[in-house]
This record gives sequence, C-alpha cells and structure tokens, in this order.
Amino acid sequence: MRRAVCPGSYDPATNGHLDIVERAAELFDEVVVAVLVNKKKQGLFSVEERMEMLRATTAHLSNVRVDSWHGLLVDYCRDNGIAAIAKGLRSVSDFDYELQMAQMNRELSGVETLLMSNNPTYSYLSSSLVKEVATYGGDVTGMVPDLVRDRLRAKFPDS
Ligand code: PNS
Repeated sequence: MRRAVCPGSYDPATNGHLDIVERAAELFDEVVVAVLVNKKKQGLFSVEERMEMLRATTAHLSNVRVDSWHGLLVDYCRDNGIAAIAKGLRSVSDFDYELQMAQMNRELSGVETLLMSNNPTYSYLSSSLVKEVATYGGDVTGMVPDLVRDRLRAKFPDS
C-alpha cells in the first residue's frame, strides 16, 4: 500500500491545506493528515479541535484519516509504514524552508518528500493570516471551510 502523510500545525486548516490533501489522496492509496505539535507556535485551537475540524472537512475522502503526533515526523512515518511526506508550496520562501526540512527528514530516515505546487487561488493563504483577519472580525469565507470559519467566529465573538 502506498501511504503518505500530510503533516502540519493545521491551526486551523485552510482551503489551501485541504486542496493539497485532496490531491494527495488521488496519488496515494492512503493519506494520513497528521496534526504535528510545533513547540515554537502558540496554538489557537487545541489539537483535538484541529483534528475534529479536519475529520469533518475530509469526511468525503474515503482514503484519508486524521491523526496527531507530538514527536519527530520521521518517527511517525517509521511507526506507521509511511514512505512519503506530501506538502504544498505557495512561494519561493516556502521552498527554502520546505527543502531544508525535506533534506533533514531524508537524512534522518530516508523518507521522501513530495512538494506539490499550491493551487494559485490559495497562494496568499496561511493559517496565521486567517487567524489575524478573524481576530479583527474580518470575513474569511472562501479561505477556510465554512465549519472552520464558524469556529473562528466562535473564538472571537466580540470582534
Ligand atoms: O504547518 P506547519 O507549522 O508549517 O508544519 C510544520 C511541521 C509541523 C510539519 C514541522 O514543524 C514538523 O514536521 N514538526 C515535527 C517535528 C519534526 O519532525 N521536526 C523536524 C523537521 S525537519
């Protein structure tokens, strides 16, 4: 079985993330969307909340499941028989960062990374920017799934 992981903080998932998950699901037999806890990033949503939103928004993809992990991504790949990491690239600055991680992960374990060009419609999107806009009461419809938009509104009811 060809199994890939789409790792990320997903705090929260954007339509750009979900586009990559959908496209990866067409290339692999199984795709695990793994919520990785990045110790450098302060989360808005709990890991459980992120997973629940991801489960709801990928429910139409029969070969996609959602999981979480607190350790090194390569250890998760080893423990789950995953040979490939699939990620999206929005820009050249993404490429610098992603290439470095891909090389580190390959050096650590031999796991391959597939860097997929983002749908340009979503090139400007990041979880951080979406959260900032939502903090001030901006409308993020079309940038995130409606469920995520509603959860953001619930986090910032007074904005
Ligand atoms: O959505 P993000 O925050 O850009 O995702 C980054 C993430 C979580 C995929 C990356 O930080 C990661 O893989 N973290 C797990 C810990 C790890 O393996 N670090 C070494 C990376 S080379």
